[in-house]
Amino acid sequence: MAFIEIRTYPDPILRKLAKPVKHITDEICKLSEDMIETMRLSNGAGLAANQVGVPVRLIVIDTHLSKDNIPIVLLNPTIVESESEDITEEGCLSVPRFYEFVKRAKKVLARGVNLKEEPLEIECEGQLARALQHEIDHLNGILFIDHLSPVKRNLFKKKYVQNPK
Ligand code: NI
Repeated sequence: MAFIEIRTYPDPILRKLAKPVKHITDEICKLSEDMIETMRLSNGAGLAANQVGVPVRLIVIDTHLSKDNIPIVLLNPTIVESESEDITEEGCLSVPRFYEFVKRAKKVLARGVNLKEEPLEIECEGQLARALQHEIDHLNGILFIDHLSPVKRNLFKKKYVQNPK
């Protein structure tokens, strides 16, 4: 397993629509292993493939959020149902050192396939539901800062873009 450099805002790859995974190749398996390693070494809760420079629909979610302690690897994930709302502070490995409260669905039903090409359905709430929504957003070129009000987004741009370090 290898660490892959994480792309950060405003890298244009973060705004690209990621392509569906059609075949589960050795490259896809290796990429998911490297993403798990990268996520762990960066203390992240999840990671989307375009964050490491590969615009395909693949996300990984950290162990502590899943029941069986095994990281979730989900290909071509979608949110098929969502319910109620929740406002929690969020961050992103691609937007380092910036945290803000974001409104998201509290409960979701997500679908995708795993690395064995088996359909996977995840019904969850709380942190796992939030991580799934955040990572699936990445695959659609959406960052958590896009969910902020115009006033807060302007504050972000002033603080972050003019002072990235
Ligand atoms: Ni993120």
